[in-house]
Amino acid sequence: MNIRTYTAALFAVLALSASAEGGIRSWDLWRDTSGHVINAHGGGVMHDGGEYWWYGEHKVYGEAGNAAWVGVHAYKSKNLVDWEDRGIALKVSQDPASEIVAGCIIERPKVVRNAKTGNYVMFFHLELKGKGYSAAKTGIALANRPEGPFVLVKTLRPNGAMSRDMTVFVDDDGKAYHFFSSEDNRTMHVDELTDDYLDYTGKSTRIFENDETEAPAVFKHGGWYWLIGSGCSGWSPNTARLYRAKSPSGPWERLGNPCRGRNPNNGMGPELTWGGQSTFVLPVAGKPDAFIAMFDIWRPHNQLDSRYVWMPIRFDDDGIPYCDWVPEWNPSEL
Ligand code: GAL
Repeated sequence: MNIRTYTAALFAVLALSASAEGGIRSWDLWRDTSGHVINAHGGGVMHDGGEYWWYGEHKVYGEAGNAAWVGVHAYKSKNLVDWEDRGIALKVSQDPASEIVAGCIIERPKVVRNAKTGNYVMFFHLELKGKGYSAAKTGIALANRPEGPFVLVKTLRPNGAMSRDMTVFVDDDGKAYHFFSSEDNRTMHVDELTDDYLDYTGKSTRIFENDETEAPAVFKHGGWYWLIGSGCSGWSPNTARLYRAKSPSGPWERLGNPCRGRNPNNGMGPELTWGGQSTFVLPVAGKPDAFIAMFDIWRPHNQLDSRYVWMPIRFDDDGIPYCDWVPEWNPSEL
């Protein structure tokens, strides 16, 4: 092959691996609209003004990628397939006195828009530089535009409790709830946020007592609140679990494993969540029955190479959500 044919072939391969071509192909590398690999792990997606914003952990090469050296990366899309890079929404600090100094740990960022104030509020799991996972704190950052810059407002332990894996869920009435693994990951807490989403009302509930549930992803459908989560095995995959409740503070009922089918790339089936771990459930705008379950396949020796798994959620005859491994699909079909 001469250099010209080689270059043409290379570009053809790059174009094919861009998600824009075939829709969503979990496990494959996903590229943004400029051809760079999307770097937004442990992420969440916010819908705002007809556009989706995907925020996630920006990873760097090698084991160093288990800490935050850059910040929270934001991407924007209208169709959930073509993602435009909008840069680093929350930058780590270069000030050694800052709790978000480069080298701290920032995980599972989730952004919500506050309809009353018009502001964007980011929650994330924060660990202090050099202290492993012992701080177990939450960071709250604020911006007046979805792309940021987000400014750190405070870091805390919600209502005094440890907080690690987390998500934020906004209900139809605008009330927001912070779900987080607490008590050394044994028990999850659901803490109600104040109207501006920048603080806690003090209403805190313990759910899934001693279930060791992490990686919470919450959504509402058919009169139920649903939560997909994982067990506690660090970066290694385990079996996903589904819960449901009639209100965010419960009582929550534990159901089975919502995953089905096998990931042909690594041979892993539902018992190992195809090799992944839940991070978010994305409600598709304007389609009340359409949801996308988002998972991460972690690669702790080089998180830069961690992969995304996005699967359409389906509902069985009893209205219970489940996900099959679908190798390639397009959100426009939902
Ligand atoms: C996982 C958790 C990740 C990360 C990891 C560290 O269980 O879901 O977000 O904290 O542990 O080992």
